[in-house]
Amino acid sequence: MNEKTVKDTQVIMHELILPNDTNLLGNVLGGRVMHLMDMCAAMSAYKHARTAVVTASVDQLDFLAPAKMGDIMILKSSVNYTGKSSMEVGVRIESENPKTGAMYHTSSAYLTFVSLNDNGKPQGVPMVTPETDEEKRRFEEGEQRYHQRRDRLKKGR
Ligand SMILES: CC(C)(COP(=O)(O)OP(=O)(O)OC[C@H]1O[C@@H](n2cnc3c(N)ncnc32)[C@H](O)[C@@H]1OP(=O)(O)O)[C@@H](O)C(=O)NCCC(=O)NCCS
Repeated sequence: MNEKTVKDTQVIMHELILPNDTNLLGNVLGGRVMHLMDMCAAMSAYKHARTAVVTASVDQLDFLAPAKMGDIMILKSSVNYTGKSSMEVGVRIESENPKTGAMYHTSSAYLTFVSLNDNGKPQGVPMVTPETDEEKRRFEEGEQRYHQRRDRLKKGR
């Protein structure tokens, strides 16, 4: 199976935060952020696997700062690590104030997607090849999290 680079899986999404996306304080709803995060990360997984994929898990998700109505949310994702049929995708979200251009980090998360065949069963994905130092660091950290998840799942069964 051919190897693929992290660059092949990079996705950048922009979303304007509108009144319908916010709570009474004018802050974006957490559920809206989670939905956009899942969409962005799924596209990275699709670009890597070129098959149907499902979200298997989302690791700890912290909302570090509120994004406000009228801000531009910028979501960036790429595949950090690949197992046999699973892919860990990292997503980072920043918000941009459209008037000042000020950017701030609002949340990050790791999502695991699994590639499925036509019968809905897990199937192998190409290995992801990290190229830059940062990609190599994320790959190594992703590998550790992959083993931690497997241990957690084994204990739960
Ligand atoms: C994800 C799913 C396909 C895994 O199926 P399964 O029969 O348990 O598969 P396996 O135990 O053979 O594991 C297949 C891979 O998935 C990974 N995996 C399974 N459950 C996982 C979880 N909760 N978190 C992270 N990875 C998981 C395994 O580590 C394995 O990875 P590898 O092939 O890279 O080593 C299955 O649990 C499923 O369909 N879940 C529902 C997904 C869904 O509907 N998502 C939408 C949001 S609710």
